[in-house]
Amino acid sequence: MQPYRQGKAAADDAFKLSSNENPFDPIPAVLEAIAASSVNRYPDGSAIALRTALADHYSVAPENVHIGAGSASILSQLITAAAGVGDEVVYSWRSFEAYPGFVAVAGATSVQVPNTPDHRHDLPAMAAAITDRTRVVIVCSPNNPTGAIVTRDEFAAFMAQVPDTVLVLLDEAYIEFVTDDAAVRGPELLGTYPNLVVLRTFSKAYGLAGLRVGYALGAEYVLDAARASAIPLSVIEPAQRAAIVSIEHQAELLERVAGLAGLRDEIWVALVEQGWDVPRPHGNFVWLPAGEHTAWAGEVFSEHGIVVRALAPDGVRISIGEHESVEKLLKASQEVVRKLRTPATEATLD
Ligand SMILES: Cc1ncc(COP(=O)(O)O)c(C=O)c1O
Repeated sequence: MQPYRQGKAAADDAFKLSSNENPFDPIPAVLEAIAASSVNRYPDGSAIALRTALADHYSVAPENVHIGAGSASILSQLITAAAGVGDEVVYSWRSFEAYPGFVAVAGATSVQVPNTPDHRHDLPAMAAAITDRTRVVIVCSPNNPTGAIVTRDEFAAFMAQVPDTVLVLLDEAYIEFVTDDAAVRGPELLGTYPNLVVLRTFSKAYGLAGLRVGYALGAEYVLDAARASAIPLSVIEPAQRAAIVSIEHQAELLERVAGLAGLRDEIWVALVEQGWDVPRPHGNFVWLPAGEHTAWAGEVFSEHGIVVRALAPDGVRISIGEHESVEKLLKASQEVVRKLRTPATEATLD
C-alpha cells in the first residue's frame, strides 16, 4: 500500500493551494472557544453537545449524528464496519485519494468505476458494478478532485438501483461551496433511504482542518457501527467547542464561503478563456486535466510560487486560496496551457 500523501508544504513566499484548505484565520469566537478548552481531561467521548447542536440544525435526533476526528475517520470507520475480506466497495475514480487506502485496510476490495469523459461520476456504471459482494458505495459530491456535482435527479435514479442492504456513503465535504440548486443535498434524503449516510466536515467551509472534526448523519444503527469501530476519545475538546461556535456563527462563516465560491468562478472563467477545457468547479478547487503532463505542470506552478496537488497521470488540482494568489496562479496556468496547446513542444515536456 502507498501511505496517504498530504499536499506539499509551501516555501515562505509561495501559496499552499494543495490541500483544499480554507485560507482564512479563525474568527475570534472560535479562538476564544479553543482557549477555554481544558486539556488535562479527556474530551466528552460522545460529543453530545456538538451532536445536539447539529441535530437541532438538521432537525434529526442526536442519535442520528456521529462525530469523528475529521470526516475521513468516519469514512474509515464505516468502511471497516461494513466491509471485510471478500467484500467490495464501489466508488468513482478519480475521487478522494484516501478511499483506496481505507478499503484496503478493511481487507476489502476496491471497485473503481472510471469518471465520465467530462469528469463526473458515472452513476449508471456504478450501479451496474454492484454485485452480491458489494457492501458499500461511495458517492462524492462535489467530487474531489474533479469538482463535479451529482444532481438530485441523478442521485434518485441511482438510489433506485441500489439494494437497500448496500450502505451508500454520500461524501459532501465541499457541499457548502455549491451554488447550483440542482445538486443533491444529502440531509434532505435521510428519511427516504435508511441505507444512506451523509458525511460532512468542519475542515473546509468552516476552516477547522487543523482541529480535525467532521460528522455523519444517518440511521442510528448504522452510526452505532461507526461508533463501535472508532478509536474512543479522538475528537478533542477544542475541536468540539470550535465546531459548536462555528454553527452559532454560521452566517458570518458562510459569507467567507460565498466569497471563495465567487473567486472560484472567476478563476474558472479565466482558465476557460486561456484555452483550458476544465469542468465547472463546485468545490473550493479547480481541476486542470493535464493528463500525462501532470508532473511537469505541477512543477511549472511551483516555479510560479503556487503549490498544487499533481495527481499523475490525470491532472492538477488547485485550491481556491488567498486573493493574492490568483495572479500567480493564472500566469502559471497560462504558461502550461500555451505549451500543452503547441504540438511541437508537447512531446518534449516531460
Ligand atoms: C472528498 C473528501 N472527503 C473527506 C475529506 C476529509 O476531510 P476531513 O477528514 O478533514 O473532514 C476530504 C479532505 O480532503 C475530502 O476531500
